[in-house]
Amino acid sequence: MSLLKLVNVTKSFGGVKAVNNVSLEVQPNVILGLIGPNGSGKTTLVNLISGFYKPDAGDIFFRDERITGLKPYHIANRGIVRTFQLTRVFKQLTVMQNMMAALNSHSDFDSRKFSEILAMMGLEGKEHVVAGNLSYGEQKLLEIGRALMKDPDLLILDEPASGISPTIIERLNKLIRDLKGLGKTILIIEHNLNVISTICDRVVVLNYGEKIAEGTFEEVSMDRKVIAAYIGE
Ligand SMILES: Nc1ncnc2c1ncn2[C@@H]1O[C@H](COP(=O)(O)OP(=O)(O)O)[C@@H](O)[C@H]1O
Ligand SMILES: [Mg+2]
Repeated sequence: MSLLKLVNVTKSFGGVKAVNNVSLEVQPNVILGLIGPNGSGKTTLVNLISGFYKPDAGDIFFRDERITGLKPYHIANRGIVRTFQLTRVFKQLTVMQNMMAALNSHSDFDSRKFSEILAMMGLEGKEHVVAGNLSYGEQKLLEIGRALMKDPDLLILDEPASGISPTIIERLNKLIRDLKGLGKTILIIEHNLNVISTICDRVVVLNYGEKIAEGTFEEVSMDRKVIAAYIGE
């Protein structure tokens, strides 16, 4: 059984088919990379899965239940949580306050889980630091930590490695692998193909809103359509 299934999903903005008839399945406990040139529809696809946009056509299933058109809050409560391409941490709040803000209520707070997540992000001892005083890379890790507070089954990361240092990229790679070890499923959009080739089990390639290839990184990187899409960028 697939964890997430998209069937012929389409979303247009004016005349632009940002996502065009995309079908795909994500198996549980897999790290799936979503790649493609700028403007190929990756973020729109994530917005559709997470309920920020409603598809014009097609259906989305999570654990075989139809979630098409549900609000982001309901989708998050079912176990799909995403981060944003541009970080959305609250810069004036502390690390801990940012992570608490992910919860529906304070009674959901689990201090052991909080400490574990803090350690996974390498932010131990920084729980009372104001987020705006963290490095940009640490802010991106914090955003992932905040998503993890909801204990999602499917974590969707939109360009987590963009603008961060090689050291933090290594921490990020390890974090994502550790999450897989904990049974999570991860869908990652990333421009940095080193990250994709290092951590992804499978890769889906979009171009002009359409899925043009799917397979292992080695397979898609030899695909003629993929090479043409990247050279034509
Ligand atoms: N909210 C929006 N309004 C209008 N056009 C949009 C909107 N979001 C995305 N688009 C357009 O849809 C296409 C895909 O964008 P996007 O999903 O952001 O691509 P990617 O994340 O792959 O760079 C682009 O042509 C973009 O301009
Ligand atoms: Mg994008």
